[in-house]
Amino acid sequence: MTTLLITGGAGFIGANLVRRVLADRPDWNIVNLDALTYAGDLTWLADVLRDPRHAFEKADLADRAQIETVFDRHPIDWVAHLAAESHVDRSILEPEVFIRSNVLGTQNLLDVARKRGVKRFLHVSTDEVYGTLGAEGKFTEETPLAPNSPYSASKAASDLLVRAAVHTFGFHAITSRCSNNYGPRQFPEKLIPLMIANALDGKPLPVYGDGQQVRDWIHVDDHCTGLLAALERGRVGEVYNFGGECELPNLTVVKTLLSVLGKGEELLRFVADRPGHDRRYAIDCSKAKAELGWAPQRRFDEGLRATVRWYREHADWVARIRSGAYRDYYQLQYGGRLAPGSPPG
Ligand code: NAD
Ligand code: TYD
Repeated sequence: MTTLLITGGAGFIGANLVRRVLADRPDWNIVNLDALTYAGDLTWLADVLRDPRHAFEKADLADRAQIETVFDRHPIDWVAHLAAESHVDRSILEPEVFIRSNVLGTQNLLDVARKRGVKRFLHVSTDEVYGTLGAEGKFTEETPLAPNSPYSASKAASDLLVRAAVHTFGFHAITSRCSNNYGPRQFPEKLIPLMIANALDGKPLPVYGDGQQVRDWIHVDDHCTGLLAALERGRVGEVYNFGGECELPNLTVVKTLLSVLGKGEELLRFVADRPGHDRRYAIDCSKAKAELGWAPQRRFDEGLRATVRWYREHADWVARIRSGAYRDYYQLQYGGRLAPGSPPG
């Protein structure tokens, strides 16, 4: 039996990874450590909370003693570290929260995991640490780090702390950097679920600036397959990029969603741009293909339709989220942008 600690397992990618491991790795136990911030929610894991191979532990990575307690309670062999504050717009509003969870939280986890003899540690990072691209080129693992938002700067800091743990202590860590994920259970602050939820409610869809920013979209299932491959077969100290090989301008994504939902383009609103908005991300994932035997499998059109179906079927979950503290965030982030007469991008 291998005991895998997944941090952030009540979040979007973490919850999908928990389900995948329980289904595909019958001889693994999972310890799911999560602080249950606004982004963490166990509703979608309700059935697996009763699974004897899955133990949930509410703990905050910024508090080292809480991590120690989790390690006291479970014989942890491997770690997949996903917990983080993850939304760029929130990092612009409140950067210090990102330093606490992403930077201090990662260092605390590295220290405890190393002292407790963890044998493999996968650090889950993002292509955003590389900064932004012009019209040509892709990020490789050799691209210098040049983060532009408080979120990506905090993730780059955590990547460097992982690198330092490998070089200084010989710690067995691997880093993965993935492009924009979409799929079931994503918090409706990110582009795709926010647009689905607004369109289903007949509310305006706020497109930042000219909507020509490009993101590379990957289905969360493909990301989780990559994470397992990196954890099981990645070389210690290496970085692996994952991407969906699906570069699209935001406006194309939003218009495609409207068409899948059978809604009209009168819902589109061009609003003031995000400060420091990265123009284009594109990932070269040839290293993961060659070394890990991984490749993205899910087509965007099919994955998007399945995602829309999931959000239709889980309208109660979305409505519950959107009726709570989310309303204050939405007002702060979009109230001014969507007000009548506010300047577009
Ligand atoms: P998410 O915001 O949906 O979930 C993050 C989870 O981490 C939440 O359950 C939250 O409660 C938990 N968490 C936050 N701070 C914590 C703390 N101090 N202690 C313990 N738990 C804490 O994020 P996600 O989209 O699932 O992203 C997971 C990871 O993948 C992050 O590290 C993110 O940087 C990375 N990533 C995300 C994407 C993407 O498109 N979503 C792409 C590449 C990489
Ligand atoms: P997001 O899902 O926040 O991911 P990231 O900023 O990490 O790439 O945003 C994806 C793209 O969509 C990004 O270019 C910003 C844009 N966007 C909008 O145009 N409107 C919105 O309301 C949101 C949330 C994002």
